[in-house]
This record gives sequence, C-alpha cells and structure tokens, in this order.
Amino acid sequence: MALRDIKKSFGGVQALRGASIDVPRGEVTALVGDNGAGKSTLIKIVMGVHPPTSGTIVLDGREISVSNPEAARSLGIEAIYQDLALVGTFDLVQNFFLGRERVKSHLGGLIKVLDKAAMREEALKALTERVGIRIGNPYANAFVMSGGQRQAVAIGRAIHSDARLIIMDEPTAALGVEETDRVLTIIERLRDQGLTVLMVSHNLEHVFRCADSIAVMHRGEVNTQVRTNEITRDGIVKHIMGSHAVA
Ligand SMILES: Nc1ncnc2c1ncn2[C@@H]1O[C@H](COP(=O)(O)OP(=O)(O)OP(=O)(O)O)[C@@H](O)[C@H]1O
Ligand SMILES: [Mg+2]
Repeated sequence: MALRDIKKSFGGVQALRGASIDVPRGEVTALVGDNGAGKSTLIKIVMGVHPPTSGTIVLDGREISVSNPEAARSLGIEAIYQDLALVGTFDLVQNFFLGRERVKSHLGGLIKVLDKAAMREEALKALTERVGIRIGNPYANAFVMSGGQRQAVAIGRAIHSDARLIIMDEPTAALGVEETDRVLTIIERLRDQGLTVLMVSHNLEHVFRCADSIAVMHRGEVNTQVRTNEITRDGIVKHIMGSHAVA
C-alpha cells in the first residue's frame, strides 16, 4: 500500500499537510513521530474513519477509496486499536467471531443455532497455529484477560478474516515486558506468513527490532522513510524533532 500526499483538516486544524508513505507488501513498516504529528489521523484515513481532504491511497497498484471501516475490511485491511481491541463482556470465542458467527442448521434449515463447538475449535486453532499463543481459559471474559492476550486475540481475529494489511496503533502501549515481547514476536510471525504490517509506535527499541523500514512524521508530514538498517536511533530522533541535519 502507498499513501500519496494525504491532507486532512479538522476545521482550522491542519492535521495532515501532505503525508506520503510506502507500506511494501510482506514487510513491517513503522510509523513514528511526536504526539500530535498525525499518525493516528493517517491510519484513520486508511481505515475509512475520516475522509481525507485530498490525496490518494494505492493498494496493489490501484487507487482505492475507503468510505468506512467495512470498506477497508473488504479490501483486506484491518486495524487493531489498543483500547477498543475486544468487547470486555464477551469471551475469546465471541470476540473472535464478532459479526461473523458460524451457525448450524437443524430440521432442514428451519432452526439455526450458533455452532459454538466449531467456533471454539476454529478460534483456538488459529490462535495456536498462526499467532502462536495458548489461552489458558477460553471462556474467560475479555476484561479479565491481560493486555497482551487481548492484543493476541485481536490480531488472530484480524488475520483469520483474511486481512493482508494489518495496521496497529501502539500495539505495545500499556503492556508489561513479557507481554510486549510476545506481541512483538507475533508481529514478526505475521511477516513470516507474508502479511503486511503498519505499526505506530513511540518505542524505538520495538521499532528497531521489528520494522523493515521506518517512516517519521513531523507536523502532518512524513519527513523521511528509511530502511531500518540504514539509520541509527539518534538519526530517527533527529527526524522526529524535525531536524533535517541527520547523521
Ligand atoms: N477528530 C479530530 N478533530 C479535530 N482535531 C483532531 C481530530 N483528530 C486529530 N486532531 C488533531 O490532529 C492532530 C494530529 O493528531 P493525531 O491523533 O493524528 O496525532 P498522533 O500522531 O497520533 O499523536 P499521538 O502520538 O499523541 O497519538 C492533532 O493536532 C490533533 O489535535
Ligand atoms: Mg495517535
């Protein structure tokens, strides 16, 4: 995917002043930048939450328009937000199949019931085989799961729905050390499975561990995008601060 010259104004506030970024297929691209730089706004435009004032989104070589989150999903784009990842009062399986529940028919289709056993098996299989995690109690409600488990279930749900581009806004914010490591490992696994990932993060250690390239936003623009192995952490920090004299 690529974003070209995206501009977005909210009334008098120009949140995006012409942001361009490449998100190559099968790679992890990190989006960094100071608070208010426009990272979440850019993601919301890709997800169809906000219409851009101008600019284009290119997916697989063609220009697309994304008018709402369902349209993004049908194009194979899924986003995972830290806080809204799961419905707290639902368990793992309910969350995993939210809006896409499996049903089975009885009496020649007269009665349709949720096929709970099939859903449970399918969800646990996807989480073990593709995400690489084990959930102790699949019947626990999401609000008693740890932040890392919730992230893992949300990621599992996204890839199980055939998403090809997974966008994560601060996937490791508010997670402990071990959980963070688990989520970063999942991100690396997604790339190994050929998925494309765009991750927003304030944590440069995580960015340098996972990302193939790093795009830096500053005041509504992407002022640079570089291969991770061609820049130092100090170099990224200078770009984040808006200094162009980079070592
Ligand atoms: N719905 C909105 N209405 C008005 N202004 C908005 C709206 N959403 C974002 N903004 C403004 O756009 C600018 C960019 O915000 P955005 O949330 O994209 O930043 P960010 O890079 O994600 O920051 P952070 O790192 O703090 O999450 C900010 O000045 C913000 O106040
Ligand atoms: Mg943000």
